[in-house]
Amino acid sequence: MTLRKLVAGNWKMNGNLAQLAQLDSIAEAATARAGIDTAICPPFTLIAAAVARVPALMIGAQDCHFEPKGAHTGCISALMLHEAGARLAILGHSERRADHHESDAEVRAKAEAVIAAGMTAIVCVGETEAERLAGRAIEVVERQMAGSLPATGSPETLVIAYEPIWAIGTGRLPSVDDIEEIHAHIRATATILLGSKAAGVRILYGGSVNPGNAAELLHIRNVDGALVGGASLHATEFLHIMMAASQG
Ligand code: PGA
Repeated sequence: MTLRKLVAGNWKMNGNLAQLAQLDSIAEAATARAGIDTAICPPFTLIAAAVARVPALMIGAQDCHFEPKGAHTGCISALMLHEAGARLAILGHSERRADHHESDAEVRAKAEAVIAAGMTAIVCVGETEAERLAGRAIEVVERQMAGSLPATGSPETLVIAYEPIWAIGTGRLPSVDDIEEIHAHIRATATILLGSKAAGVRILYGGSVNPGNAAELLHIRNVDGALVGGASLHATEFLHIMMAASQG
């Protein structure tokens, strides 16, 4: 089953109002390249302004709380993101799992909150370098999936992002064979966990995706798009990745 590719940019804790100008050409290309989905996930404070500036582009968030409201100082709920115009949210990114000690159960609760709010959840999984060297990458990813994939929602509302932690921001990538192998396992594990719905769930690769490697990565079997960090901060680089996704 060929799924519509999704190219999602994760700005992390970068960007400001002036940088939203980068979105103009991305939105224009997203409209022109109707065969793929494109999203940018800026920091919370820029979501509403981004939606107002480029209504044609999907804007997402990088996290949320799993409760709809309440005494959680400093947190933002999925409902609040939806009201701000966000259409998707990244959950369980390795930086959040590491810096904020997010558990699989919390990631699942967040993903279910995002889906209940009418948005798409991008659930991130991925192994450390030590785990890969120990031959445990597949086992770690399967465990993360079993603990953090939401039980709710239609296939389009769930996206899985495979992001080997050692490839994030380093310029180092797994081999094409390794990516193909682990994405096949992710599809098989999703089928065990979610049933036939798994065939419609997109699996993104993330970690050092750039204009030079995007075409090769995006043509690997079971790679249904990319989650892009650093290269999403520069429209020219991101546009190349979008172009690679829309070819073939
Ligand atoms: P990178 O980040 O593209 O800068 O490696 C990817 C991510 O963390 O989502």
